[in-house]
Amino acid sequence: MRDSRSGNACLQSPRDELNRPDAAAGPQWRAGLDEEYADLAKRLETLVPCLEIPLHLAWIDAIQRLKRERGALIMAHSYQSPEIFHGVADITGDSLALAQAAATCDSDLIVMCGVNFMAESTKLLAPHKRVLIPDPEAGCSLATSITAAAVRALRARHPGVPVVSYVNTTAEVKAESDACCTSANAVQIVEAMGTDKVIFLPDRYLGNWVATQTRVELVLWNGTCEVHETFTGHEARHTRETFGAKLVAHPECSPEVLAEADFVGSTTAMGRWLEREQPTRVAMITECSMADNLRNRFPRIEFIKPCNLCPHMKRITLPNIHACLRDLRHEIHIDAAVATRARAALERMLAVGRQEHV
Ligand code: 13P
Ligand code: SF4
Repeated sequence: MRDSRSGNACLQSPRDELNRPDAAAGPQWRAGLDEEYADLAKRLETLVPCLEIPLHLAWIDAIQRLKRERGALIMAHSYQSPEIFHGVADITGDSLALAQAAATCDSDLIVMCGVNFMAESTKLLAPHKRVLIPDPEAGCSLATSITAAAVRALRARHPGVPVVSYVNTTAEVKAESDACCTSANAVQIVEAMGTDKVIFLPDRYLGNWVATQTRVELVLWNGTCEVHETFTGHEARHTRETFGAKLVAHPECSPEVLAEADFVGSTTAMGRWLEREQPTRVAMITECSMADNLRNRFPRIEFIKPCNLCPHMKRITLPNIHACLRDLRHEIHIDAAVATRARAALERMLAVGRQEHV
């Protein structure tokens, strides 16, 4: 049965479910939603189960209205679920793009749909703005792999060697660092230190990959991303051989996986590579939502998904974005002394910018 006005088969009876008197507290379906969000519903149709679309639209509409009332800006990382990425975000991208946007945006209220270190970076770069995160438990295995005390100990062991830390770290760790980097500019930042040796932390796989691209010697830490470390070289080869797919991998994957990849780069660079190369079929070796969020941009490319979900990114949902905006809850606060030093490391990164093609 099709919806008589929008013609979208996904927008049928479940909306009646939304309006049941005993339905869980949440936004109600209102007349006209299907016409208002017809384009979005069409985009989501191929990305999320059909039955979920009316539920998502009711939340999306409520969030859009609250966002306008509050004058808020919503940022979403490329690993956010499609209903967030396509439905409510004003700015989307990799962690470098979000940091750059935080430094220049003109809204006084920012909701970061991503993990904690991203919300902290936003606050550091927009110190006079109110920054909220829908779920403060959204962490990152890399950020918890190292402490500020461990960075101080590393410096003591390698006197005079500068520290470059991946943005996937706490503000306290950034404060102990000379500069930050993301996967989009790691090689450039390491080389910008102007030394023969750099302490690079905390991701040992990203560090291994950077070491293959530069003559600078790197002292590495033993952190890993719990999502990317689970892909194996065997799995990558199997995907290529079985599906004849090109392989695009995030540099947080192991060296065995990266050796199989046709392209290695940040989440934004993956999209740029697809634009340039236009492969017939591609496997995105990274978080699952990445392929979903790119699929609409590349309708002629077939996406294979040997992907893993990031449990931290997936803590962010439409209901908790709505609650965070409604109650202005989960605001990010950073100790002033830590913030000053951490901001300097981030600003040094922003001064260098983005590396071509990654
Ligand atoms: P990007 O810097 O490519 O956005 O990646 C961040 C991240 O957390 C990847 O796991
Ligand atoms: Fe952290 Fe990995 Fe999740 Fe990225 S995908 S936020 S590195 S745990």
